[in-house]
Amino acid sequence: MNLRFLNFFNGKPKLASEPDRSHWVDFHSHLLPGIDDGCKTIEDSIENIRELQYQGVKRIITTPHIFKELYPNTPEIIREKLIHVKTALIQNNISIEMEAAAEYYLDEWFCQNFQTMDLLTFKGNHLLVETNYMDRPHFLEQIFFDLQTSGYKVVFAHPERYNYLLNNYDAFHKLYDNGILFQCNLLSFTGYYSPQIKKAAHYLLKNKMISMVGSDIHRINHARVITEFKKTKDYQALMKLNLLNNSL
Ligand SMILES: [Fe+2]
Repeated sequence: MNLRFLNFFNGKPKLASEPDRSHWVDFHSHLLPGIDDGCKTIEDSIENIRELQYQGVKRIITTPHIFKELYPNTPEIIREKLIHVKTALIQNNISIEMEAAAEYYLDEWFCQNFQTMDLLTFKGNHLLVETNYMDRPHFLEQIFFDLQTSGYKVVFAHPERYNYLLNNYDAFHKLYDNGILFQCNLLSFTGYYSPQIKKAAHYLLKNKMISMVGSDIHRINHARVITEFKKTKDYQALMKLNLLNNSL
């Protein structure tokens, strides 16, 4: 590795001994084959993981959907698939740490059952959750409160993607002030989803409200867009935040 490399912003060289703020840990992705809307086959999984490795990701905590109506995954299913993928990584000489947690869909069923469930968390008690994209669940504040008082650190997956928040940035602040951790998707900053989502992502970046970023990779075109995004100033700005990705 070269001892010096170009500073992205001004072209001046800087010492390689400066803190490396590359995206070491990715903890939002759908890389276990055939159990949600992400990778369909083991070959898909390997292709996507190779791309993450190329980007400099050292550790993956993949997060299949758990959504009673659409993806009724269990910890047993997820652990079994993880072993399958890890075996394939060894067979393909891919050296990357891989674990699994989950992305929990907050619905009435989850609210009624979470206290008796074996929830898959990361870094001890961080719990990744999502909601319907269009409608604000009437129980949102209550379930966040219930999860927090049950000892979980609530990580809200891609808050910039919910329609019900896009016209009400004050709601971001209310959630943030209540201790909800925001995980933004790298793709959101590129405009991949929509201009409104890009705008919201940049608002959260500007206001330093992002605790962590994630790839949320479902398929290879996601991974490739992120590879290009990692060459941009926006990505450099993100890496200046005190992200949990660099400490997990
Ligand atoms: Fe996701």
